Amino acid sequence: MTGDPDKPGDSRFEDITPAERLASEAPEPKVQTEEASILKGVDLEDLCDATEKAIEDGGGFGWLRMPPRETLERYWQGVLANPVRRLFVARLDGVIAGSAQLIKPTRNNEAQAFAAQLMSAFIAPWARGYGLARRLTETVEIAAKAEGIAVLKLDVRETQQAAIRLYDSMGYHRYAIDPVYARVGGRFVRGYCYAKVLDPAVSVTWAPTPQ
Ligand SMILES: CC(C)(COP(=O)(O)OP(=O)(O)OC[C@H]1O[C@@H](n2cnc3c(N)ncnc32)[C@H](O)[C@@H]1OP(=O)(O)O)[C@@H](O)C(=O)NCCC(=O)NCCS
Repeated sequence: MTGDPDKPGDSRFEDITPAERLASEAPEPKVQTEEASILKGVDLEDLCDATEKAIEDGGGFGWLRMPPRETLERYWQGVLANPVRRLFVARLDGVIAGSAQLIKPTRNNEAQAFAAQLMSAFIAPWARGYGLARRLTETVEIAAKAEGIAVLKLDVRETQQAAIRLYDSMGYHRYAIDPVYARVGGRFVRGYCYAKVLDPAVSVTWAPTPQ
């Protein structure tokens, strides 16, 4: 950068504080996604921290009340141990800030072997807005395709507007509405069921989007 920020009359620096100037010169946060096959030490703690923050915020993929920390640790270890689930994590500047799971069809379910479920996607509130969820979804899609999955399905509460915009923008089609999807504070919340065709050889004629 050229110019002297302390020089009076340099219009580029007139209206910003030193803190704002530092922020504007800071490097872009680093966004990464990857599959997690083990969660060691700080990674497990970071994932639990992110989960707690998401639960506090009200988007804790199912949990409505905060579980004890040991329950969360056991939950994540259970996900890793489950042969039907694959866990993908998102990192912001190296810190795990959220995750998503790819649920593969069980071996007996030959009739639905073409489809998998993207479940329990979340990003901790402090890491939102950096493109982590979009990147994570793309990473899960690539992994699903590599497994020969032709259709990826997911569902969201109708109140999860950010997620709805995300999946709408990524080519997911809302094919059904579940009127008894979740119960929060004693009231039912509708769920939107989405699907995306990953295999270009598969052609689907969708009914009009249910509202
Ligand atoms: C939905 C969620 C995963 C998005 O995470 P994120 O990392 O902030 O999302 P990204 O930065 O990748 O944004 C991707 C897109 O999501 C949508 N989006 C993200 N935040 C949004 C907001 N606050 N309002 C509206 N749309 C939003 C936008 O379409 C955005 O694309 P754009 O930046 O090109 O406009 C996150 O808000 C979250 O964890 N919410 C609670 C849990 C949840 O809803 N999980 C999904 C269903 S299980």
